[in-house]
Amino acid sequence: MENFNPGTLFIGQTHCFLQQTESTNVWLAEKLKTNILSEGFLVHADYQENGKGRLERTWRSDAGKNLMFSVYLRPAFIAVSNQSILSFLVALSVSDTVQSFVKSEVFVKWPNDVICENKKIAGILIENQLKGMFIDRVIAGIGLNVNQESFPDNIPGTSIAQITGSEISRKEVLETFCRHLEARYLQVKNAGPESLLETYNQRLYGRGHEVTVQMDDNTSNGVIRKVDKEGCINIVTNGVLNRYHFNSVKLIYHGLHS
Ligand code: BTN
Repeated sequence: MENFNPGTLFIGQTHCFLQQTESTNVWLAEKLKTNILSEGFLVHADYQENGKGRLERTWRSDAGKNLMFSVYLRPAFIAVSNQSILSFLVALSVSDTVQSFVKSEVFVKWPNDVICENKKIAGILIENQLKGMFIDRVIAGIGLNVNQESFPDNIPGTSIAQITGSEISRKEVLETFCRHLEARYLQVKNAGPESLLETYNQRLYGRGHEVTVQMDDNTSNGVIRKVDKEGCINIVTNGVLNRYHFNSVKLIYHGLHS
């Protein structure tokens, strides 16, 4: 990616572009073992041999078509008890980015997928290292579909180009992302997480709609109300409000192709 210049203070100001690597999250974790990197360091790869997804899944993406990158953050001002705010911060920044290129409404799907036209357009994998009560180091990995024209039936998805009908510069999308991430990061740092949470809830996919909630052997239906400041999704089932943590539950969204 030549002449990459996001015009930010720190996000993406230092970076490395690779043709191929196992996973940009893994590459960055390895690099941090022996190097001191500046906050905001970004690594991007044209292709990942073994891209990591959430819940031990893999992230597959065509070579040279999309964005696959990881950003190094040190948000010492976020307490461990508030760490879900990081997912919201990154998901909102990705949704801001996509929204600046497409007309269709972009949503965040709890905890941190990004959805457009009922299909997943980006996935996020955040790996934190904690130090006592605070977050010491964060690797935020993002896979954002930019120019991929088609998706296999068994792994549905969409891309910016599929939505707009024309190819777009990946460099421009990545620079835009850096600016949005920096703005959202400074928003949380200076004004606290509440204002971010409000926007997150405004863009929450499925809000006000019925979903199926799967927990161990239990299945029930309920309506999504919001996500609270502890990062739990609030769902009303038969008049009762339940709060679920993201690793305790699977939600089935009716009408989502993802
Ligand atoms: C998910 O939706 O399950 C999360 C997918 C995250 C994929 C990105 S691609 C760049 C970074 N490196 C990885 O190995 N994974 C993340």
